[in-house]
Order: sequence, then C-alpha cells, then structure tokens
Amino acid sequence: MFHLSLRTKIMICCIGLVALLDIMVVVFVRSRLSTTLRAECLTKGQNLACHLAARSEHLVLTEEVVSLQRLVQDLEDSDEDVTYAYVTDRKGRVLAHTFAHGFPSDLAGVNVPQPDDAWRWQVLETEEEGLIHDVAVPMLRGKAGAVHVGVTEKRIHRTIAHFTGVIVIMSALVLLIAFGLAALVSWVVTQPVRSLTKAARKIRDGDLGEQVVATTKDEIGDLVESFNQMSAELLKQHKVLADRNRRIRMAQEQAEEQRNKLRAIIDSMVEGVVFVDAEGRISLCNESAERIWGVAAQDLLNKPLLDCHPPQARARVAEILERAKARPGYAVTREMACPKGHYRLSNYSSVHGQGGRYLGLVLLTQDISERVLLEQGQKALRDQLFQQEKMVLIGQIAASVAHEVNTPLATILLRTHLVRRQIGDDGSLPDLDVIAAEAQRCRRIIDSLLGFARRSEGVRARMNVNVLIRKSLALIEHDLVLKGIALEAEYASDGALAPVDADQIQQVLLNLVTNAADAMPDGGRLRITTWCPSQEDTVKIQIIDDGCGMGPDVLDRAFDPFFTTKEPGKGTGLGLAICQRIVEEHEGQIDIDSQPGQGTTVSISLPRAPVEVTTSD
Ligand SMILES: Nc1ncnc2c1ncn2[C@@H]1O[C@H](COP(=O)(O)OP(=O)(O)OP(=O)(O)O)[C@@H](O)[C@H]1O
Ligand SMILES: [Mg+2]
Repeated sequence: MFHLSLRTKIMICCIGLVALLDIMVVVFVRSRLSTTLRAECLTKGQNLACHLAARSEHLVLTEEVVSLQRLVQDLEDSDEDVTYAYVTDRKGRVLAHTFAHGFPSDLAGVNVPQPDDAWRWQVLETEEEGLIHDVAVPMLRGKAGAVHVGVTEKRIHRTIAHFTGVIVIMSALVLLIAFGLAALVSWVVTQPVRSLTKAARKIRDGDLGEQVVATTKDEIGDLVESFNQMSAELLKQHKVLADRNRRIRMAQEQAEEQRNKLRAIIDSMVEGVVFVDAEGRISLCNESAERIWGVAAQDLLNKPLLDCHPPQARARVAEILERAKARPGYAVTREMACPKGHYRLSNYSSVHGQGGRYLGLVLLTQDISERVLLEQGQKALRDQLFQQEKMVLIGQIAASVAHEVNTPLATILLRTHLVRRQIGDDGSLPDLDVIAAEAQRCRRIIDSLLGFARRSEGVRARMNVNVLIRKSLALIEHDLVLKGIALEAEYASDGALAPVDADQIQQVLLNLVTNAADAMPDGGRLRITTWCPSQEDTVKIQIIDDGCGMGPDVLDRAFDPFFTTKEPGKGTGLGLAICQRIVEEHEGQIDIDSQPGQGTTVSISLPRAPVEVTTSD
C-alpha cells in the first residue's frame, strides 16, 4: 500500500485529468480530421473524375487517343493526390492511362460503373501507395465508356500526421502547464496543511500556543483559524493546569514534610506508638514500639492487633477495641506482664474523625520493666530493712527481758536449791522439782534469747568446716540413733576452709540437725554434704532430710523469730532466726527448699578462706 502525500495525490489527479483530456482531444481531432479529409479526398476524386469524363466524352467518341492520353496525363500532373487516371471504352478496353509501366492487369474490371450510376467508388489497397480511392464515372451512361481517377490518401496521412504532431506538442505544452498549475495548486492547498502539521507536532512535543499564519480566507483559512484558537486555548488550559499542578505539588511537598516531621517525632518518642486502623489492623508503628514489643515492624504492620498479644490478654484487648469503636474520646491505661520478666504500660486512645467516624486506635506503650523491677527491689529492700529493724528491736527486747527475768530466775533457782537443802536429802517435794525444772527451762529460753540478741563478731579463725560438722554430729549422733535416723555425710575432699567463729557455726549446725531430727519423729535419713565450687570462693553445706517438709505458709515464716509449729514448751522458734543471723554475720547465705511430705534441704554458703602461701626459709 502506497502512502502518497496530499500534494502528490493532487498532482496525480490534475495531471491525469489533463492527460486524459489531451488524449481524448488528440483521438477526437485525429478521427474528425481523418473523416473530413477522406470525405474531401472522395469529393475531389469525384469532381476530377466528372470533369475528366466531361472532357473525355467527345475524345472517346472521336477516338482521339493522343488527346485523351494528354488529358489524363495533365490530370495526373495537375494534382499530387491523383495517383492514376485512365479511360475505358464501352467494352472496358483502356484507351488512355497514366501508368508509366503499362496498365496493371489486376486493375482491369475493378470498380466498373453501371449505366445508371452517376459515379462509383471503391477503396483499393496497394503496397506502394497505400489506400487509393478509385472513383469511376460512366460517360454517356456507359455508352461511351468510363473514366477512373485514383486518388491516394498519402496527403491525408501526411496532414493527419502533421496535425497529430502539432496537437501532441500542444497537449504536451498543456500537460506541462497543467503540471505547473497542479504543483502550484497543490502547494497552495497543502502548504497550510503542512504548517498545521508542523505546528501540531510542536504542540505534541510540548510547545503549546504555536500559531499558524492564515494565508487564505477560505475553508483552509477557517481551519487555520480554528487551529490557532485551539492552540491558544490549549496553552491557556495548560497554564491553568500547570499552576494547579504546582500548587498540588507544593501541597504534597508540605504534606510530605509534615508527614516526615510527624514520623521523626513519632520515631523519636520513647514510648512505642502503634496506630490500629478501623479494621483492627496495625497500620503504623515506630522504632520504640519495635523495641518494646520485641517484634520487627514488617511483622507488626497489617497484622491484627489481637494476634500481637498473648492468648490470655486477647479478650481484654478485644473489649478495649470494641469500646474505642463505640465511644469517641475513649482512653484507658493498662499494665501488662509480658514474657521474660518484662512489663508494659499501654495507653489506648480512640481516634474519631469528622462526623464521629471511627478511624482507629492509638496505642502508646512504655516499657516499665525497669521501674517495676526497681519497685520490686525497693519493696524487697524495705521488707529486708523492716525485718532487720524488727530483728534488732526483738533482739533488744529479748536482751532486756532476759536481763530482767534472769535475776529473779536465779533467785528462784537459788531458793529452790536452799529449800531442798533445808528439807534435807530424804524429803521429797514433787512441786519443788517442778518449780526447779520449769525454772531451768526458763533459763534455757533466756539463754536462747540472749544468744539471739547477742551480736558479737566472736573469734573468727580459719576453720575446716568438715571438722566442725564432725564435732557437732558427735554431740548429737547418739540421739539420732535413738530416733532411728540414719546419718550420711559426704565431705568436700579438700579446701573446705572458712574464716568462722567455730562455736557459732557449730550452734548453727546443731540447730539445723535438731530441726531435721524433729521433722523425722519416726526416723529417716539425714544427709550432710559439703563441697567447694571451683568457680566460686565459697564453701557449701547442705543438710537434707526426708522428713515432713514445710508448706509455703511455714516456709515463708520459718526464719521469723519465735515462729514455731512445735507444741508449747517444745520449741522457742528462735533456732532458724539465730542460724540466719549467724550466717549473715559471717557474710554467708542460708536458704531453705522444702515441700510438704518431700523433706527439706537447708543450704548454707560461707565465704571461703583465702589459700595461705607458706614460705620456708
Ligand atoms: N528440717 C525441718 N523440717 C520441717 N520443718 C522445719 C524444719 N526446720 C524448721 N522447721 C519448721 O520451722 C519452724 C521454726 O524452726 P526454728 O528452728 O526456728 O524453731 P523451733 O525448731 O520450732 O524451735 P527451737 O529451735 O527453739 O527448738 C519449726 O517449728 C518447724 O515448723
Ligand atoms: Mg529449731
């Protein structure tokens, strides 16, 4: 498929039309000329033949052959169109002719006129002369013979050829002029179109407002005018749009700046900021939220808020979400204990837009683990202080009570002794024995009280703990055997040396072994082990029994002074309190691990004595 330009099309049309007209004119003129000349040729031949017949009649009748010959020869010579002329008598014999080489035999009998014919015409085709019009005219109605004149078409053809040449040249000139005119017209017509195309391309490339100069005042001029208006309107609209775009871009930049500022503020906040959309999904979270929640942002975003909470907290969070949705201005603060000893304080605030449309929920989270742990530590410290103060107070009271009671008690014991001596050895007085026994018990209690209240550093020496344990067990071993308690001891192989007051540590060991024995009234197994952990500078002692054990209520208060579960008169409740005090005075630690019915393990940790380096001189 050819893509021709408008100009080419106009030129092809114009030139084609003119060429067609040219051809038609040539053909028509040639045809008309040919017809006219042929008719003229025939008329000429007819006139010449008639004239010859008129002049030949009496020559034939008088048989003046020479004159006749001259006559036909003159005729041929007088007109170049006449190819030949001859005269025949009434029997058809040729009397005179113009053929130089004799009368051609094939011409005899051709175009013989009838007596009634005024003339007769026949076209003969010859090789030399081409078409020849043979015109025969009878003389005296055929009684004197006939004359034949042959008129050739040579001149006609020459004339036609000449005219055709002239017409062709003129046609070519016309065609040339037509070509020029077509080029001019096509240029005139297509020039504004080309200008319009050029301008349209410029507009397409962004050069709006391009104008085209209207050179004509016709339809194309109108088109150019409309185009110019359209271009100007486009430029105007473009300016309006560009201005609008500029303002939108500025607004976007401002919004972006605001958003970045807001984002920077949110990210710089110590509190974790999480925004939950109306569908309950997290749509925004800051870096602090990632840190506090311990989850990366990509794992939080688009996730339902409920899925980010442990199962036990979901019902509570779901309720908060429901309330936030229903109540504009709803705000609530909740504290939550999280795994790994973390604590979070979360503030939930509902966000409602214009018309009260629920937009979502802002969740501010603080990691209050440190604060809670600090508070817990402070509470423990306060409890410890309170305990210490209580112990000091109890110690002071105990010391003062012991001091006050000790003197009258000594008097009672002394007087009881004197009364017994006054009565003599034989006198039995059971009540006096009871008084003496109870007074003795009171003294023991007083001793315990004094032991509890006494806060002395004692005499500390580098002692082998294993030796102290053996000594203590030697004192009580007999009782243990009587109670059916099997004793097992496992001592640290070496280095169980600690700077201790031997009496005090022995008192501790005896108290603990006694407690264990009391917990196994029907016998059992008592195990004592010592060891020195390689990575610590401590000596560890464990007293393990498989006795009745302690419930949490007893365990919590076991170290409290005067707390005892034993029957009145059986225990003072000072044993463990004294043990704790002594161990702590030795900068050690004492712990109890016990379960009811599972036995009890008391663990003591004492600072280990530094290794002595002996040097020999
Ligand atoms: N090994 C143990 N097994 C079970 N309970 C124990 C054991 N050691 C201590 N207890 C409990 O702790 C309480 C307090 O003990 P603590 O030694 O302070 O006083 P006590 O033994 O009752 O009296 P005291 O020591 O003056 O004889 C005991 O009454 C007992 O209930
Ligand atoms: Mg005890």
